[in-house]
Amino acid sequence: MPEQATVAAGDFGDRGAPAPLTPTELLALDRQHVWHPYAPMPGVAEPLVVESASGVRLRLAQEAYGRRELVDGMSSWWSAVHGYNHPVLNEAALGQLGRMSHVMFGGLTHEPAVRLAERLAHLTPGDLTHVFLSDSGSVAVEVAVKMCLQHWRSLGRPGKRRLMTWRGGYHGDTWQPMSVCDPEGGMHHLWSGALPVQVFADTPPPGFDAAPDEGYLARLRGLVERHAHELAAVVVEPVVQGAGGMRFHSPAYVRALREVCDAHDVLLVLDEIATGFGRTGELFAAEHAGVVPDVMCVGKALTGGYLSMAATVCTPRVAEGIARGSVPVLAHGPTFMGNPLASAVAGASLDLLLSQDWRAQVRRVGGGLRTGLAEAAGVPGVREVNVLGAIGVVRLDHEVDLTAATRAAVRAGVWLRPFRDMVYAMPPYVTADEDVARIAAAMCAVAREA
Ligand SMILES: Cc1ncc(COP(=O)(O)O)c(C=O)c1O
Repeated sequence: MPEQATVAAGDFGDRGAPAPLTPTELLALDRQHVWHPYAPMPGVAEPLVVESASGVRLRLAQEAYGRRELVDGMSSWWSAVHGYNHPVLNEAALGQLGRMSHVMFGGLTHEPAVRLAERLAHLTPGDLTHVFLSDSGSVAVEVAVKMCLQHWRSLGRPGKRRLMTWRGGYHGDTWQPMSVCDPEGGMHHLWSGALPVQVFADTPPPGFDAAPDEGYLARLRGLVERHAHELAAVVVEPVVQGAGGMRFHSPAYVRALREVCDAHDVLLVLDEIATGFGRTGELFAAEHAGVVPDVMCVGKALTGGYLSMAATVCTPRVAEGIARGSVPVLAHGPTFMGNPLASAVAGASLDLLLSQDWRAQVRRVGGGLRTGLAEAAGVPGVREVNVLGAIGVVRLDHEVDLTAATRAAVRAGVWLRPFRDMVYAMPPYVTADEDVARIAAAMCAVAREA
């Protein structure tokens, strides 16, 4: 096929497979038809075309700024903790494909989902034992909210239907999650006036190791107390606020929320979709605080970044409350609930994680980021540098120029996706020391050039 031949989507070669698109053709079709995250249509910024990915490297279909291969600093938005094209996960997916990739979950069940649910019940802290499998993090948060509202409704307290959170959070892009995202700085301020109005505490004071601020703690407790009559739940990301601003805070604030929620009959939902499965140095960030929530949401790294799957895990108390209502069922059932393929890969990914010294891996990656990012602290325009677990964040005193940032990172041989005033990385746990150093160097280059 000549390099520039025009291929319409759907053209097939003589083997019955679609004829491969050249990068130029692919980008033209992409621009014409494909909506990208947080992007206009038609697209303005040209994405890089990825041809394949293996280990911690993304292989591009064509050279960009002199590079065909990039070290991945993003784990595909916190998910690919074992890297790409992993033989163990491939084997789990292929084995399951040969049995069934999907069957409905209403009236049917199967081993991959049952094993996964049992696994999650054991891994998550305390008595989080009831598992609702869904297809994305946002849906897992929707389900958590529905569980909490229905719990109180079933117990004859339908007035408890608002949510409380702290500013600076991010919980997903569907409606209820958006209502507990940061109302101003976050990505959903566009919808103020349309979203349910929730109760917001200030952003927790920064610093994982910082002494808790007593004034803030008093205000946080006071807010829960004042609104307890109308609150179904407090919904927060514990210890690390991710896409809402990449901030770390003291576990003491999570502990305080647990105590005040217990004292005033409010449920506590911890969103561990970004933090779950080791990223912060504990298997779940709630463990830094020694807290067991009433409901926990997990996703992202659940399948090692292979397939979209999330879970909402609750305690027997929450489930029993729901069961006492006139409608005793949890009225939710996505088509792809408990998808066998995703469940099988998730099971294999958890086995893989737990069969390794993941704590040492996370500590090693975090140590490499800390060393490599020391230089960034001296770069003009850098406000602060923070590392926790296997997460590194460089905060600037200005908005990042995304085009310049991408160029600087790719020239340094690394894939990064900064946003707002942040250059951050959360590499796969298997990233070798020299690649962690390369990621940190690329972050410094972005800080200097963007
Ligand atoms: C803490 C948190 N909750 C929820 C979500 C939404 O997950 P998903 O993108 O799978 O819907 C995200 C995604 O970034 C997240 O970081």
